[in-house]
Amino acid sequence: MSEKQIDRFVPDEELNKQKEIANKVRELLGTIYPQGYTPCAFVHSYGCQQNVSDGEKIKGILHSMGYQMTDSPENADFVMYNTCAVREHAEQRVFGNVGALKNIKRRRPNMLIGVCGCMSQQESVAKRLKSSFPFVDIVLGTHVMHKLPEIVYTKLTSGKRVFDISGEDGVIAEGLPILRDGTSKAWIPIMYGCNNFCSYCIVPYVRGRERSRKSCDIIREVKEVVAAGCKEITLLGQNVNSYGKENGEISFPELLYKLNELDGDFRIRFMTSHPKDATHELIDAMASCDKVCKHLHLPVQSGSNRILEKMNRKYTVETYLEKIRYAREKMPEISFTSDIIVGFPNEQDEDFEATLSLIKEVGYDLLYTFIYSKRPGTPAAEMIDEITDERKGERFRTLLAVQEEIAYKKLSDMKGKIFKALCEGEGRVLENSLCGRADNNVMVEFENTGKQKIGEFVNVKITSSKGYVCLGEAL
Ligand code: SAH
Ligand code: SF4
Ligand code: F3S
Repeated sequence: MSEKQIDRFVPDEELNKQKEIANKVRELLGTIYPQGYTPCAFVHSYGCQQNVSDGEKIKGILHSMGYQMTDSPENADFVMYNTCAVREHAEQRVFGNVGALKNIKRRRPNMLIGVCGCMSQQESVAKRLKSSFPFVDIVLGTHVMHKLPEIVYTKLTSGKRVFDISGEDGVIAEGLPILRDGTSKAWIPIMYGCNNFCSYCIVPYVRGRERSRKSCDIIREVKEVVAAGCKEITLLGQNVNSYGKENGEISFPELLYKLNELDGDFRIRFMTSHPKDATHELIDAMASCDKVCKHLHLPVQSGSNRILEKMNRKYTVETYLEKIRYAREKMPEISFTSDIIVGFPNEQDEDFEATLSLIKEVGYDLLYTFIYSKRPGTPAAEMIDEITDERKGERFRTLLAVQEEIAYKKLSDMKGKIFKALCEGEGRVLENSLCGRADNNVMVEFENTGKQKIGEFVNVKITSSKGYVCLGEAL
C-alpha cells in the first residue's frame, strides 16, 4: 500500500480526539439544558443509500454527544439536513426546507441548524448558505463528517457559525458510532467516492475519489449486524465493481464469496454496479453465492450508443446486452432494474426510440427514471441542447407508460411461484396484511395470520398483483 493510500484512513488519534470532544459536548449540553432534559436531534437524509448510511453515522455521532433522535424538526434542539446534489430539484427542496426552519428557530433560539452532505460540499452552496441563511449554524462537507463533535463544540463555545467543506479527495473514517434505522436491514458501505465522471453527474465532484474500505473491516461489520439480528445487508458504493482496485484489496466478486461463507441466515444485496465493470466473474459469483439476491441494478442511462458516448459511460448497448444475456443464462430467475436519464443534451427522437427498444428487450422489473438536470461544473452543462422541456416531458411520460406495461407483465409472471421475502411491516394494499421485498426486489403482500414476524423471512406464494405490488399467501 502506498503512502497516499494509507493517508486516506483517518488516523486513530484523530478519531479518539473527536470521541473526547463528543464527551465534552455532552457535558456542555448538560449545562445548557435543564437537569433531566435530554436534547433532541432531527436528522434527515436526502438522496441515495450512501447518504442514508452517512445519516446513520451522523445520528450515531449526535447520540454519542448526548442527543436523542426525534422524527420532527418542530421539537428538535438540533436539526441536520444531510443533502443531495444530484438534480436541481433535490437542491431546491433542501433550500425550501432549510428556509422553513427560520420560523421554528425564532421560537426556539437555542436550536442548532446544520447542513451537510453533497450539496454543502459545493462552494457555491456553502456561500449561499452563509449569506442568505444566517440562521444556519454549521455547514460541513462530505469529507469532514467525523469532525462533527469538534464543529459542534466550536459553535457552542464560540457562538460563531462554523463552515468546513475542506478536503477534496476524501477519507475513510472507521469505527464511527452508527445509529441504524432498523435492525433487520443494514446499509454497509464498502467504498466511497467515484472516479467515473459521467458527463452529467455531480457525484465525483462532491464525493471525491474512489477509496475502498479494508475487507476485514467490512467483514467485521457484517458479522456484527448479523449477530444483532440483521437479515439483509446491502453493500454500497457508487460503483461496487471498482471495489479494491485502488488499494490492492480483494476484488468485489471475491468479497461476495467471503461474505457468503459467513454463518447466519441473512441475504446480501449490493448497489450500484457500473455496467462497464460488471464482469462475468461478478455474475458467476452472484450465481454461486446462495446468500446473494438474484437481482442486479445495472443503470444503463440510455439505449443510444451516441448518447452513451456523450455521457462518458464507456460501454455500448451491445456489450450491455451481452452482460444481461450472460446473467440470464447463469440465473434464469434474475431480475434487473435500471436508471434512465431522459433528455440528455440534444437527445434526438431516434436516441429516445433506442432507449425504448432497449428497455423492451431487457424487460426490467423496475426503472428509476429521471429528466436530465443540468449540473453546473459538469461537462454536459456546457453541451448545446436544443430540445424543449415540453419534448422531454412527453418522452418521459412515454417512457413511464412503456415501462409500466413491462413491469405489470413481469409481476404477472410471478403468479403461482414461491418467493422468499423479508417481512418489513404492514401492507398497504390488503387489509390486515404484512409486506416485504422478495429476493428479486419486488414488494409482496400477504395476509397477516399472526404467524409471521416483522424482521423474519417468509415464503410467499404469489396469487395476483396490484400496481407494483404482488399479492400472495404466506406458507
Ligand atoms: N453511481 C450510480 C448512481 C449515481 S446517481 C451509477 O452510476 O449508476 C443515481 C442516478 O441519478 C444515476 O444513475 C442517474 O440516472 C441519475 N442522475 C445522475 N445525474 C443526473 C443528472 N444530472 N440529471 C438527471 N439524472 C441524473
Ligand atoms: Fe455519477 Fe457515473 Fe459516478 Fe454513477 S458512475 S456516481 S453516474 S459519475
Ligand atoms: Fe445525491 Fe450525493 Fe448520493 S449527490 S445521489 S446524495 S452521492
